[in-house]
Parts: sequence; structure tokens; C-alpha cells
Amino acid sequence: MGSLKLAATLLLLGSPVLVSSALAQSAPTYGLGRTPSAEEIRARDINIGSTGEELPPGRGTPKEGAKVFTLQGCIVCHGEEGVGGLGPALKSKTSQDLPIWRRERILPLRSPFATTVLDYINRGMRLGREGTLKPDEVYALTAYLLFVNKVIPEDTVLDEKSLPKVKMPIGEGWARLPDWKPGTRRLQGYPY
Ligand code: HEC
Repeated sequence: MGSLKLAATLLLLGSPVLVSSALAQSAPTYGLGRTPSAEEIRARDINIGSTGEELPPGRGTPKEGAKVFTLQGCIVCHGEEGVGGLGPALKSKTSQDLPIWRRERILPLRSPFATTVLDYINRGMRLGREGTLKPDEVYALTAYLLFVNKVIPEDTVLDEKSLPKVKMPIGEGWARLPDWKPGTRRLQGYPY
């Protein structure tokens, strides 16, 4: 009997102990790697979704973010106020009167959710030293970049409550990707 069939039969017989030991015996091992520790899993389990429920406690304003942008060296790659560096521009130069799809593809302008802007900065920046920003710095940087793109006014305080409520210029005008399940084929031409 194939081990999967055996496992299925044992499952039907209702014996979880036998099932897990049968599966453990059939899984090949290569003598590589080890089980990650709870701390290692926690360090990687930092994705923040659209509702913001995973947001860390913290707060920041555009004014504070302008200082962090310089102190943390974002300016080195993205230029002063987010324009003119070798990295992508972070500040829109087009008029707010244009429809959003005719404006630049800039994350703090085009993203459907403000929480995604924070999530990106938190996980991906600054490039080369990812994961070193403190929550208050990430809130402040997010506030600063949303402010320079005229998404929020300068006196806004962003925290785990206010950030998910920020209305992004794209509104509901974005396309939802189909939910991914194991085995689902990637969209054709979709690069990621
Ligand atoms: C060493 C250079 C470098 C530094 C320093 C740096 N970035 Fe970046 N950043 C990049 C590059 C390159 C990309 C584009 C990455 C990509 O598209 O895969 C990027 C992308 C971004 C984006 C998304 C842009 C978009 O519209 O898609 C944001 C937001 C951002 N950076 C913010 C920051 C902030 C905030 C800091 C400072 C904490 C920072 N970056 C520091 C190089 C850098």
C-alpha cells in the first residue's frame, strides 16, 4: 500500500498518532537545515495586510518623517524630498487633477492601501539594512511620503488606528488579484 493510501486509511480509522508517524516515516530527509526557532519565525512574520490588523504600536507625523528621511539615509538613493536620486522617485510631479492612472507609478500615491506603504518600507527599506527601522520611524516615514504626495495633510498623526483609515487617491479603482492557492497558475505576464 502506498504511504499516502496508508495514511488515508489510518485517518479513516481515526488514529492521529499512527497517521503522523506513518507520514513522518515516508517524508524524505536530506540531512539539511533545521526547524526554525519561534524567534526566527517571529522576525519574518511581519507582513501587514490591507486592514492593518498586524500593525505594530507606534506613531509618526510628516514633520518627524522628513527628519528620519535624512537621518536614515533614504535621501542618498531617493534624493531630497524623494526626487532626483538613483533610486525610484517617491514624490509625484504630476497634477492632482489628472486621473490616478495618468499619474506616476509611485507607491505612496498609487497604492490601494496606506498600510501597504508602511509594510513596504518596514520590510524592504532602507535597502541593504532592511528590518532596522523602529515602528515610530516607519510611521513617520509613511506619513512624510503620503504628505509629499498630497495624500494626507501635514498635521496628520499616523498610528495603528489612523493609518488604515487613510483614503488613497485610487479609491476603489484597482483590480483585485485572484486569491492564490497552492497549485494556482500565476497570471500570464505577471512578473512577480
Ligand atoms: C541604497 C539605496 C536605497 C536606500 C538607502 C533607500 N532606498 Fe528605497 N528603494 C531603493 C530602490 C532601488 C528601490 C526600488 C526597489 C524595487 O523596485 O524593487 C526602492 C524603493 C522604495 C520605495 C517604493 C517605491 C515605489 O514607488 O515602488 C519606497 C516607498 C522607498 N524605497 C522608501 C525608502 C525609505 C523610506 C528609505 C529610508 C529609510 C529608503 N527607501 C532607502 C533604494 C534605496
